[in-house]
Amino acid sequence: MPASELVVAARRARKHARADYSRFRVGAALETADGTIVTGCNIENATYGLTICAERVAMFKALSEGHRRFRRIAVVADTQDPTPPCGPCRQILWEFGGDIEVVLANLRRETGRMQLKDLLPLPFDRRLLR
Ligand code: THU
Repeated sequence: MPASELVVAARRARKHARADYSRFRVGAALETADGTIVTGCNIENATYGLTICAERVAMFKALSEGHRRFRRIAVVADTQDPTPPCGPCRQILWEFGGDIEVVLANLRRETGRMQLKDLLPLPFDRRLLR
């Protein structure tokens, strides 16, 4: 599928964001190996610390629905500059998605495209736990 389709899904998911505290709404759309799109949005909480980012919501939803292999994730925020996944999200995306493509966009246009390995160049992962 074209990246633009994934971006459209992320923009739509962003509308469901529960961002009452930061007002910073984020949407994500994860493309699985079989072409399924699983979306997520950020969900905040009065304790702040329990906030979960759009990317992790999408990945945890996908895993809980039985998806195991992934190709790409689109992340959308209303910013001029690209909004990349935060550190914890990079770790989770790497653990379960490997070197997926990351497509960044705002409400109007794509703002960046990169591989996850370039966002997390020296990952801690299961290979080190042997
Ligand atoms: N957030 C995401 O959902 N994804 C990102 O890539 C960056 C940050 C959320 C977390 C929090 O709800 C809000 O954006 C402000 O940090």
